[in-house]
Amino acid sequence: MDTEVIKITESHLSDSVSELARAADIIKSGGLVVFPTETVYGLGADATNPEAARKTYEAKGRPSDNPLIIHVAKASDAEKYAYTTDLYYRLANRFMPGPLTVILKAKETVPLATRGGLDTVAVRCPSNKIANKLIELSGVAVSAPSANISGSPSATNASHVIDDMMGRVEMIIDGGDCDFGLESTIVKIDGESSVTLLRPGKITVSELSEVAREVKVADAVTGELKEGEVALSPGMKYKHYAPKSDVILLDADTSSVIEYIKNSNKGKIALISYREDVEILKNSLPDAFIYDFGNKSDEIGQAHELFFILRDIDKKSFDTVYAPLPKKEGISLAIYNRIVRAAAHKIIKL
Ligand code: TXA
Ligand code: MG
Repeated sequence: MDTEVIKITESHLSDSVSELARAADIIKSGGLVVFPTETVYGLGADATNPEAARKTYEAKGRPSDNPLIIHVAKASDAEKYAYTTDLYYRLANRFMPGPLTVILKAKETVPLATRGGLDTVAVRCPSNKIANKLIELSGVAVSAPSANISGSPSATNASHVIDDMMGRVEMIIDGGDCDFGLESTIVKIDGESSVTLLRPGKITVSELSEVAREVKVADAVTGELKEGEVALSPGMKYKHYAPKSDVILLDADTSSVIEYIKNSNKGKIALISYREDVEILKNSLPDAFIYDFGNKSDEIGQAHELFFILRDIDKKSFDTVYAPLPKKEGISLAIYNRIVRAAAHKIIKL
């Protein structure tokens, strides 16, 4: 398939409405359009068209029991596709448009193919203006998983998308770097005052707690599923974000890290390092490749860098990559959740 790549600047959206209308026509006629969002790029299709869902799974190489998030232009458009609740609107008033996905009971307007056979559906209203306008012009909810081949990190700029999706979709909209760089926070509504966090993102547990009285955190957010345990979110059971190199998280201070690596024999090595430690690591371990992960306290910067670094690691093929163990709180919980999967849960405490 020929893939058309168009460039649109979010801050000059009005110059590109006719191009976006063309993208919307592709979606309306059952085709696939990759578009930017404030989290990661999405692989967009008509959420009400089962054949478009089938094409989405095929383009991504994703199992068809792993449901798609449906994207709406306004929070109240969720009514057409799901049974909303008072808590949904309280969350929407605070966090939408924005990087929050809410799981609700589905209406029949969303075909089973889109929701992976579940009786629920994931709803999100993105704030990126290109995404929002594309959905509005499509006149329908747009299903969009992250626009990466299944198993590789989500795409956060057009070059990642082109690497993965060229020839697999009708159109790619290049809207530059995604603002946040990790996927949306996903919550399931349990009752009128309680939610369960299924995937951590930019919207944190403490922010959610300002709206829902109780915020439970699903076990799979921080740990591995135990044998026999059922994943609340089907995506949790698949291995994600895994680079080809062996990734190991080190729970240690800088001098112990240096000592440990000097004494280990792990071939071609890379380290993901907080900015404060980059110089000392470069001087102490001259043969290692050092990735600058941003300042220790700059969670936003680290979230933005993570998938760039993981994709670069795949290109450079190291034998072993060491990374610091993030904290399990605030935005760091989202970083922890992705990096611990990239490391297949290998953590060494020194
Ligand atoms: O930021 C994002 O959410 C991006 C952008 C494009 O919006 N999308 C995204 O989609 O990350 P995807 O498909 O890569 O991840 C969605 C996750 C999957 O793990 C899936 O299993 C889960 O959401 N999910 C979807 N529908 C669900 C449902 N009804 N119940 C539980 N989990 C669901
Ligand atoms: Mg994904």
